[in-house]
Amino acid sequence: MSAWLDQVFCEDALEGLRRIPDGSIDLILTDPPYNLGKDYGNASDQQPADDFLAWTERWVDAALPKLKENGSLYVFTTWRSAPEIFVMLKRRMTMMNEIIWDRRVPSMGGTVRSFTSVHDTIGFFVRRKDYYFDLDAVRIPYDAETKKARSRSIFIGAKWLEQGYNPKDLWSVSRLHRQHAERVDHPTQKPLEIIERMVKASCPPGGVVLDLFMGSGTTAVAARNTGRHFTGFELNPDYCRLLAERLALPLAPGPEADALQVPAARARAKRPAPPAVEQQGSDPKARARSKVRAADPGTDPGFLAAPPKPAGAKAAARKRTAGKTVAAAMIDGPE
Ligand SMILES: C[S@@+](CC[C@H](N)C(=O)[O-])C[C@H]1O[C@@H](n2cnc3c(N)ncnc32)[C@H](O)[C@@H]1O
Repeated sequence: MSAWLDQVFCEDALEGLRRIPDGSIDLILTDPPYNLGKDYGNASDQQPADDFLAWTERWVDAALPKLKENGSLYVFTTWRSAPEIFVMLKRRMTMMNEIIWDRRVPSMGGTVRSFTSVHDTIGFFVRRKDYYFDLDAVRIPYDAETKKARSRSIFIGAKWLEQGYNPKDLWSVSRLHRQHAERVDHPTQKPLEIIERMVKASCPPGGVVLDLFMGSGTTAVAARNTGRHFTGFELNPDYCRLLAERLALPLAPGPEADALQVPAARARAKRPAPPAVEQQGSDPKARARSKVRAADPGTDPGFLAAPPKPAGAKAAARKRTAGKTVAAAMIDGPE
């Protein structure tokens, strides 16, 4: 097995991409910083606007050669940067969809000088006409009532009625709250439901998904859950540790595990896996810190018992108690 497959490297994505052979990736699914000033324990979300766009262009140009000719790209962003980022990407690829993720944020106030923003914007891009896309894998079943309304003989056995409908480009899925079992301590963790839909539609079983900005590892978990391989990067050592913990949870036995055709996948299902994370960060202090934490539970009370609080989450918690304005921004702000 390739040294970079089913690994998340704790390093800068631009450096890490050198590990990935050109033309080896089926799907780039990535959720980069949106440049909204969030604290990920690094300055990645707090760049001057021009620098942010130039950096986005740099990682896009470094990542695209890794994609297979029939591969796809999904990129999360916000309405603030989507126009520039989508124009830049349209010079390189064909845009298939702008998907709106409605985070189902309840009405709790927030801004008073504009409309409350409750969605994230996701661009879906391809390279060629024969791009991989498996609609049947993501159809949404009709409910019993709808099926009953279509009970005339001409509808009986109709594939679309039996298999369900094509998801629309508005995805209404609740953001993850503290009470969601899936939730870990990352300020912008995405729901698996969304990521798994993209993976199933745009990466063949046994294929490879690349996420340059893994955060809490949702893309890696979704790939593994659906029988795909993953690879990617994360800069913050605390998040690297968090995602290693997520990936160490057992993989449910079944066709997805088999689709990977990796015997180790089955073995992992029976015992906690060693963290699929390599510490390769360019900051030697951060690297040493995270190695110590991963190796020595004694230095870190609560190791394994409870996930650590990543630097960004701690700062966010501080801000939450600091004042109303920030609290409102957190309710309404993009994920
Ligand atoms: C929006 S979050 C990703 C959240 C993720 N989708 C999840 O569900 O948890 C972006 C992540 O990119 C990381 N990051 C920022 N700059 C990076 C870089 N140059 N290389 C790798 N990771 C980076 C941040 O630390 C942050 O965790």
